[in-house]
Amino acid sequence: METIHTVEWMKQVARQASGTGRLLGLVPTMGALHEGHLSLVRAARLECSPVVVSIFVNPKQFGPSEDLQKYPRRMEADRALLETLGVDYLFAPTDEEFYPRGHRTYVEVEELGRGFEGRARPGHFRGVATAVVKLLEIAQPHCAYFGRKDAQQARIIRQLVADLNLDARLEICPIVREPDGLAMSSRNVFLSPAERCAATVLYRGLDAIRQEIARGERDATRLVAALRRLLDAEPLAAVDYAEIVDAESFEPVARLSGTCLALVAARVGATRLLDNMLIEGDRGDGGTLHTQL
Ligand code: PAJ
Repeated sequence: METIHTVEWMKQVARQASGTGRLLGLVPTMGALHEGHLSLVRAARLECSPVVVSIFVNPKQFGPSEDLQKYPRRMEADRALLETLGVDYLFAPTDEEFYPRGHRTYVEVEELGRGFEGRARPGHFRGVATAVVKLLEIAQPHCAYFGRKDAQQARIIRQLVADLNLDARLEICPIVREPDGLAMSSRNVFLSPAERCAATVLYRGLDAIRQEIARGERDATRLVAALRRLLDAEPLAAVDYAEIVDAESFEPVARLSGTCLALVAARVGATRLLDNMLIEGDRGDGGTLHTQL
């Protein structure tokens, strides 16, 4: 595996791949890799060659009071993991290389970035969208791989790819969980043992409403109330939001129909955790619904 530190070199690799008719796969990450990230790498490996993983802790997506300084950085361990998975290139630019002095252009996706994570973290999605557009422009992937763990982020990226006529195909991969259901996240390392136990409440809440849906409940308001009750019962978790939204518009729904997402965010101790569940059905038909946690 070659480590690429400059934008110019990354562009050269991309040009070479396209010139020889090879399908470049890109997995954008901020490092501190876990099985969630590795599942994206494996998906890329199946379809693409060469596979490029980017590791860039993007300062523009962290607010002034957020955890940019203490965000876990484990470049050597990450590099070793990616080697074992047969990744071809690690793209790891410095802040100055990625955002040279005088950088002034930002990408903003209207509406979709306003609620939920956008409300909790002003400027976050503007930072994400800007970094992702730049990564897609630099690496020119045939396909880029993202996780449904960050469902709102994935929706926003899908929108910007369409709106900016970018060529990359997007693959949104399922959530990878710990054996007890906690969605894997680079931030889980910050949880104390007691918080780690409490953190499963996000999964338990979603699983509880999954069972309600399987029993035939279609009233989203009642499902959300049940989800909130469960989350509120965990003293170590402070709920930020719990909602069921339409998967396209991210607007709350009153009844389940079409494709919806149950979204939760909670602070457990000082760590903010996200989770969600996909609720899929035939549009206009509340009869058969499939849930995917
Ligand atoms: P990061 O949090 O490192 O996540 C990189 C990718 O891994 C994202 O697409 C995320 O959704 C996916 N991912 C994280 N945990 C996952 C899990 N448990 N199961 C499946 N996929 C998971 O998301 C970012 O970085 C950044 O915002 C980025 C897109 C790189 C832009 O800076």
